[in-house]
Amino acid sequence: MRIKIANIISGKDQSHTETQHPTIFHELLESNLPPHEKSIDRLGDEAQLMIGAGLETTAWTLTTISFHLINNPSILHKLRSELEAAIPDLTARPDSRFLEKLPYLSACIQEGIRLSYGVSSRNPRISPDKTTRYKDFEIPAGTPVSMTIVDVHHDENIYPNSRAFIPERWLGNPETGNGASLNRYFVAFGKGARSCLGVKYVYLHYCAMTETVWMRGT
Ligand code: HEM
Repeated sequence: MRIKIANIISGKDQSHTETQHPTIFHELLESNLPPHEKSIDRLGDEAQLMIGAGLETTAWTLTTISFHLINNPSILHKLRSELEAAIPDLTARPDSRFLEKLPYLSACIQEGIRLSYGVSSRNPRISPDKTTRYKDFEIPAGTPVSMTIVDVHHDENIYPNSRAFIPERWLGNPETGNGASLNRYFVAFGKGARSCLGVKYVYLHYCAMTETVWMRGT
């Protein structure tokens, strides 16, 4: 990939002139980023992030949802019943905002995302120049602090029977054993300023895709 990027920067690689669409590299090179941010390493990192973040996560999560629906006929039956009642006319194409409000469909998607771990490794944050205080701990500047999504999503105190696909755990306003909202412990998209940028897109499009597959079989 480094050679490819170097050839694009130097103009030796002209393959983009044969395609109808722009590439990530050309978009970034033509952007107003300062020159030192258009390095080969930076362009490579951005391309990998976009492919990994936008494609792999989405494909894997849809696979996970499909797997659990196929393996749990009673859940699939319940989902189909909700969809059939909400959309009696099969020729209608409900928009994503309507679908997003269907409770059982949303619960199936939420549970599928919980079990698909977009990032399974540690996801560190580093405070570059300030000491961080947490309870009685003082964490010096420059110390990586991290959690894993997998550990949180399989904490049995928060998600009992955590390996099982149980959409019902998301219905109503679910709480954990300590009374906190279950959503507080849903960390599939990370949390805070650097959390996933695709989250809104994910919910809207998963609703449409899940409805299309399980109602229309296409
Ligand atoms: C189910 C699907 C997805 C999951 C589970 C997921 C999960 C994540 C996670 C865990 C992070 C890291 C957050 C952090 O460091 O705190 C992330 C970052 C990111 N995601 Fe997603 N993601 C998904 C889909 C998408 C899609 C479809 C897009 C683009 C359309 C996208 C774009 C991004 C970007 C650009 C970042 C980096 C944000 C930053 O560093 O500021 N993601 N995602």
